[in-house]
Amino acid sequence: MARRKKIYEGKAKILYEGPEPGTIVQYFKDDATAFNAQKKDVIEGKGVLNNRLSEFFMTGLNNIGVPTHFIKRLNMREQLVRACEIIPLEVIVRNYAAGSLSKRLGIEEGTALPRPIVEYCYKDDKLGDPMVTEEHIAAFGWASQQDMDDVLALALRVNDFLSGVMMAVGIKLVDFKIEIGRVYEGDFQRLVVADEISPDSCRLWDMETGQHLDKDVFRRDLGSLTDAYTEVARRLGVMPKNATQITKPTLIN
Ligand code: TMP
Ligand code: ASP
Repeated sequence: MARRKKIYEGKAKILYEGPEPGTIVQYFKDDATAFNAQKKDVIEGKGVLNNRLSEFFMTGLNNIGVPTHFIKRLNMREQLVRACEIIPLEVIVRNYAAGSLSKRLGIEEGTALPRPIVEYCYKDDKLGDPMVTEEHIAAFGWASQQDMDDVLALALRVNDFLSGVMMAVGIKLVDFKIEIGRVYEGDFQRLVVADEISPDSCRLWDMETGQHLDKDVFRRDLGSLTDAYTEVARRLGVMPKNATQITKPTLIN
């Protein structure tokens, strides 16, 4: 069998050429990185969990009319997605202060924000994904004003959807990051939610205890990342407990 072509390898995923033109296979690795890959580890089962969780969120978004790149999950670690041209921005939506916002503005983590705040970072690992404004985005031609109106609308719809889904299972959506891609259909382009939506790219806190159920567990050494992601998956009914554990054959007496 011919080996499929690798298109791109990132920190947490690999993209392969898909079976048909305009499609891509997105493979979720177990690699975890933080602080622009200064901190690294391999967390067994993380890729399987994120593949499932991203499928769950993207399918939900598709179902309520928020377009995404997601087509279908192929297996434990792979999903088929539409090929798109990624706008080089990390679109961050925040409902509560945390992380870099708390640091930058001196606001205590967990403080409710007066309204959702949307921020943009320029996707460039060498520069450490610096924050930019719409002025930079327009001046450097990364996206048009029309694109940015659509990006903002998409980001806020994703926020409403994710906040509701998480609230229903006792989890507070503190903030998250999405990426947006352009899909071409004839002469037209459409913007879609791309990349992944998973606990790697969200801050999720248990509503009662405040326990972190996201990548901060890894960033801040707060315990088992797999346990945290499994708990999110369990509450959402996405996969049974221990489904990521590889079971060895056992002897039956
Ligand atoms: P921040 O507080 O570190 O700026 O992160 C805001 C949100 O964006 C948080 O949910 C984590 C997510 N995020 C990513 O998905 N990738 C990144 O590279 C960074 C820095 C944050
Ligand atoms: N994704 C970034 C990295 O891999 C940073 C982060 O998520 O904290 O380094």
